[in-house]
Amino acid sequence: MIKRNLLVVGFEISLLFSFVVGYYRDKTCAELQVNNSSVICVCNATYCDTVTREEPHPRRFMVYTSSKAGLRFKKFTSILEVFDLCKVTECSTTLELEPRKRYQTIHGFGGAITDSAAINWSNLKDEELKQNLIESYCGDSGIQYNMLRVPIGGTDFSPRFYTYQDYPERDKDLSNFTLAPEDLNYKLPMIKACMKASNDSIDILGSLWYPPAWMKSTKKSNGISFLEEEYYDALALYHLKFIKEYYKQGVPIWGITTTNEPLSGITKHANDNVLGWSVYGLANWIVNYLAPKIKRYDPSIKILGVDDQRFTVPLWFNAALKHVPELGRAIDGIGLHYYENELVPPEIVDRCFKNYPNLFVLSSEASIHSQTNNKVDLGSWDRAEKYIKNIIEDLNHNYTAWIDWNVCLDKMGGPVLSKTYLDSPVIVDPDAGVFYKQPLFYAMGHFSKFIPKGSKRIQSVEKYNCGDPIKHVAFSTPMNTIVVVVFNDKNKEKVVRLKLGYSQAKVLLEKNSIATVEFHNDVIDESCDCEK
Ligand SMILES: *[C@@H]1O[C@H](CO)[C@@H](O)[C@H](O)[C@H]1NC(C)=O
Ligand SMILES: *[C@@H]1O[C@H](CO)[C@@H](O)[C@H](O)[C@H]1NC(C)=O
Ligand SMILES: *[C@@H]1O[C@H](CO)[C@@H](O)[C@H](O)[C@H]1NC(C)=O
Ligand SMILES: *[C@@H]1O[C@H](CO)[C@@H](O)[C@H](O)[C@H]1NC(C)=O
Ligand SMILES: *[C@@H]1O[C@H](CO)[C@@H](O)[C@H](O)[C@H]1NC(C)=O
Ligand SMILES: *[C@@H]1O[C@H](CO)[C@@H](O)[C@H](O)[C@H]1NC(C)=O
Ligand SMILES: *[C@@H]1O[C@H](CO)[C@@H](O)[C@H](O)[C@H]1NC(C)=O
Repeated sequence: MIKRNLLVVGFEISLLFSFVVGYYRDKTCAELQVNNSSVICVCNATYCDTVTREEPHPRRFMVYTSSKAGLRFKKFTSILEVFDLCKVTECSTTLELEPRKRYQTIHGFGGAITDSAAINWSNLKDEELKQNLIESYCGDSGIQYNMLRVPIGGTDFSPRFYTYQDYPERDKDLSNFTLAPEDLNYKLPMIKACMKASNDSIDILGSLWYPPAWMKSTKKSNGISFLEEEYYDALALYHLKFIKEYYKQGVPIWGITTTNEPLSGITKHANDNVLGWSVYGLANWIVNYLAPKIKRYDPSIKILGVDDQRFTVPLWFNAALKHVPELGRAIDGIGLHYYENELVPPEIVDRCFKNYPNLFVLSSEASIHSQTNNKVDLGSWDRAEKYIKNIIEDLNHNYTAWIDWNVCLDKMGGPVLSKTYLDSPVIVDPDAGVFYKQPLFYAMGHFSKFIPKGSKRIQSVEKYNCGDPIKHVAFSTPMNTIVVVVFNDKNKEKVVRLKLGYSQAKVLLEKNSIATVEFHNDVIDESCDCEK
């Protein structure tokens, strides 16, 4: 009895505590209700919502919630209770956390600085407004991205076709290799602004979409094409020169992929600026040209294979390794894209990694592409839900990082060469002097902000859920805290107990909400004293 009363008092104090401590450092979302969707948060030059991480007090837990109803990183704190087995009924959903059972180490989260993203960021003009966007993504009061993907040259999200050496042609030494105005005026300044705002090192992943047209079988930027074999070495050199030029600009490259979506270059997507590969051709190029050149220059630079949809793993991974077994040692890991993930379950990735435990897998691209007119759907919670479910699934299948596509776009979802407009977590509106943070932004932030580099996924087993499971993933962080992300996709509230040893955090999940919970990894070693 006494214990229970103390818990109630503690709970009330904690409410007061959360009111006093939880809010004062943050600016709340300047929300705009968009039709029947969820809210968007409006940032202008003088105001932009922030989220700071609260260090959890011993024996307490912190909860951050975002919901369809409009909560955005709403903070709540309460005390860890003694886990009381006697009170567990058939339907008290419980996640049993086991920090001693560890899986992959997390590398990070991020997005892509494409030409479109960087140009539209730059078009915001006002320095304070631009800085608010950077701080939102990279700063301590933002969602703390620590990875960025940067295209090596142009992509479908560029205003024009270009490469770093369109002329002279047939010059295998690439004597006229030059970064583009898009790099110097837009992408590099945006990357550097993020590096400056971040308290963490930012790891940059470079990806090639297409080489100079003169290296291709068709001599054209788009259309079904392959790399001419006489230019295999020149394309490896092209990557090395990119790495060196970015380094000179003060932006070291952490890793490169081995060509973005090579399947697109031999299929219907070939209208874009792409490069097609045969399975053997790509594996041979990586093993005999790309990897030796890059690793000789700097063995710490990561080389990531596949960089295509999950369903292509049997092609660019399984079949490639069969033809060229050395590929397993030439690459450090693989990048997989989010699109069409429903076509193949993530188990396909587990299976291929059984034989290659030294390789890692990360998600190298994601975005919402809609067949309807709503290319950009302001306030869409459904789209946030798609990301959340996918990120949880991927992390539960040993993915080490998750990288989104364009960090910002304009209200059209462009501009693009191929006219396939997309949605983005941040939509800029320079005429109004604002940008909007979409639900997608908060979906990313519930992971990126609270699962720092070096965190390890731990076992979390769901019990007593009455056949109504929730999505969840749990980590142990370098600060010796436990972080659990739980997602309630139902239109009703739900109580979830996060059980660690004999302690539990009892969390009320709002309807249609995502919650990130954090507490210290110190188990209260006390068993329950009820009489049975
Ligand atoms: C949302 O409402 C605005 C007017 O407030 C309207 O212009 C717009 O078309 C609506 N969007 C959708 C997707 O219904
Ligand atoms: C808004 O409501 C209409 C009618 O109920 C529905 O068809 C549409 O999908 C809803 N849009 C969103 C974004 O929820
Ligand atoms: C910026 O946003 C804040 C919060 O919504 C608002 O109070 C302020 O008036 C806005 N400033 C301008 C110049 O629109
Ligand atoms: C975004 O950038 C492109 C240039 O690539 C430009 O055409 C477009 O107008 C920009 N949109 C806004 C809203 O600035
Ligand atoms: C070198 O590249 C630049 C564009 O970056 C181009 O203007 C120039 O003509 C090229 N030089 C030669 C010799 O082709
Ligand atoms: C920034 O990083 C330093 C050291 O890595 C750490 O001590 C400090 O608390 C961090 N600042 C914030 C606001 O997290
Ligand atoms: C993840 O990696 C571990 C080894 O670190 C392995 O035991 C497990 O089967 C892998 N797959 C999944 C889905 O956890």
